[in-house]
Amino acid sequence: MTEPRRSLRVQRMTWEAPGVVSLDLVAPDGTALPAPEPGAHLDLHLSGGITRQYSLCGEAGWRVAVREIQAGQASRFIHHELRPGALIDVTGPRNNFRFDAAPRYLFIAGGIGITPLLPMLRAATRAGATWELHLCTHDADAPLIAEARAAGGVVHHHISTQGTRLDVASLLATPRADTLVYCCGPSALMLAVEQAGAHWPAGSLRFEWFAARPGATDGAQDSFELVCAASGHRALVGAGVSVLETLRGFGLDVPSSCEQGVCGTCECRVLEGSVDHRDSILSAAERAEGRLMMTCVSRAATPRLVLDI
Ligand code: FES
Repeated sequence: MTEPRRSLRVQRMTWEAPGVVSLDLVAPDGTALPAPEPGAHLDLHLSGGITRQYSLCGEAGWRVAVREIQAGQASRFIHHELRPGALIDVTGPRNNFRFDAAPRYLFIAGGIGITPLLPMLRAATRAGATWELHLCTHDADAPLIAEARAAGGVVHHHISTQGTRLDVASLLATPRADTLVYCCGPSALMLAVEQAGAHWPAGSLRFEWFAARPGATDGAQDSFELVCAASGHRALVGAGVSVLETLRGFGLDVPSSCEQGVCGTCECRVLEGSVDHRDSILSAAERAEGRLMMTCVSRAATPRLVLDI
């Protein structure tokens, strides 16, 4: 079933740093919105049929922060056309970046990647955990750093133009069983953290991707048989056709948003067969379990795949 949309009003827009604006969103009838979990994101449905995911970073209300990207239609619309008072359609919140309890946290953010981490900093402090944040930015202007500093832990600001670039390999040289590492930022930073922390205990490193992981959707697109157990449909999925497209071809109502394997909207339960996972959401444990797949990018690793749909 397609996730229901709701309209929210843009109550306030705040200039957070050069090229970064935050939006405070409220229900038009004034009803209070439920407090989102740390790590949750909203899908914003913008004019022209564009949908983008933004992390909720506010302390109490629903707030997202958007960096303007010159080639980015969505961010340009938000920066140049959207104004306080406007209504905006959203779905969610949805959480693919869950905040789990630990005595100690290491948070690593690149630029606007601080947004999903900000509520985690506050939650870690509330839980009495110790934490440090390494925020990496190009220059001294860093979005939301004042709020991060007010959250109660230790904040290190690494500025590449000032020669204080984060040494990820040194930071993660010694694995710690008591520490969870949460990271969000550009692909290069997340891949560096993944590589430097490869020897940490399984499940210690957590990532939030907002664009397809490099290489995630590459590879051979072999054909396989797709069977839908609940609806009785079956078909051969050919090279270059996604499972999501095939399901829609059957007339099934499968929601989607990013169609890059980063938002989790198109998740489907797997009943039989193995999945060639190409998303950036499921953990190594969830992949090994083999019960879920993101139908927009993932494919079958066996000649037959049976889904619970
Ligand atoms: S539509 Fe976003 S993960 Fe498939």
